[in-house]
Amino acid sequence: MKPVNVGLLGLGTVGAGTVNLLAHNAKEIGRRAGRVVRITHAAVQNLDKPRECPTDGITLTTDPFAVVNDPDIDVVLELIGGEDDAYKLVMAAIEQGKHVVTANKHLIALHGNEIFAAADKHDVVVTFEAAVAGGIPIIKAIREGLAANHIEWLAGIINGTGNFILSQMKFEGADFAEALAEAQALGYAEADPTFDVDGIDAAHKLAILGSIAFGIPLSFDRIYTQGIRGIHADDIAYAEEMGYRIKHLGIARRNDGGIELRVHPTLVSEKALLANVEGEKNAVMVYGDAVGPTVYYGAGAGAGPTASAVVADLIDTVRIMSVDPTGRVPHLAFQPDQITDTPILGNE
Ligand code: NDP
Ligand code: HSE
Repeated sequence: MKPVNVGLLGLGTVGAGTVNLLAHNAKEIGRRAGRVVRITHAAVQNLDKPRECPTDGITLTTDPFAVVNDPDIDVVLELIGGEDDAYKLVMAAIEQGKHVVTANKHLIALHGNEIFAAADKHDVVVTFEAAVAGGIPIIKAIREGLAANHIEWLAGIINGTGNFILSQMKFEGADFAEALAEAQALGYAEADPTFDVDGIDAAHKLAILGSIAFGIPLSFDRIYTQGIRGIHADDIAYAEEMGYRIKHLGIARRNDGGIELRVHPTLVSEKALLANVEGEKNAVMVYGDAVGPTVYYGAGAGAGPTASAVVADLIDTVRIMSVDPTGRVPHLAFQPDQITDTPILGNE
């Protein structure tokens, strides 16, 4: 069968991780996908920048639209991040009938409602597993694995950079700025790290989780959002004296008035599972009425773990291409006409 040609937008931490993973596990990935999957083109900003992956066989360009518009490209991987260019590129790909894989929570949280409507109209699939909790397959877990449940609540550590900073402050005595610089050097942080430290990245992710868990529209603007910028070493030490850890949590739960969506630092008993999640690791607890409490844990950021989710989405996409895209799982778990405007109790 003809190989699947993939156009990659962005060859930074996640893009390079994706190229490396596709090469490293090529045989197994091809066997799972049912077709050879190859990256033929990649768009970057700076052609002279050294790359963390081999680029032989990949045509590099600074024009991402040339990649999207290339008639030989079957699937577009959007890994440039940000909102504006990414939105235009993803919509252009969809309008040309191309499937899209993205790791961009900012894009999905703010524009997912329009993107998924366009994808449904053009019978293409937009997958975004890497957008929440890095390598943990939390989207599939809630959307597919827990599809029979009435979800009561979910709560988790969903920003690796923030959790890494809190861990470095607690265990290594690092100050906030040092710990953030280390997270940036390790490739965990967003291009604009204020998204990590001010809770915005976690709120993007919570908007996505809230939507697939509760069948509500993506509602980023309604989320109560507070970051970790104001936390000092003394706060961590005092919390410890009282038997608590300070963790930055995203929480979504039903209550009588609607759905509560909030992200903020939280005192968590040191005996609780979430209190013991350290470094860039993420963990999400989800409570479904039939299954009870469930926990998902793993690396929430970094090249390899994020590529794991991106390539899994790519394999799913290739499988769907071989059958009928209209028979796929709905993008946001619920059928589009079943997404309801339940009140959101967040930032009012
Ligand atoms: P990087 O900043 O490392 O990489 C971004 C890449 O995009 C770079 O190669 C850059 O080019 C390229 N780029 C940016 N703008 C353009 C443009 N307009 N045209 C062409 N190329 C462009 O980001 P990451 O890899 O860390 O993140 C990518 C996405 O993945 C983001 O949406 C992020 O939120 C998400 N994500 C990241 C995770 C992580 O751990 N890093 C985890 C989960 C999701 P050049 O290299 O030449 O500058
Ligand atoms: N900057 C994000 C984080 C990357 O630290 O969690 C993973 O989404």
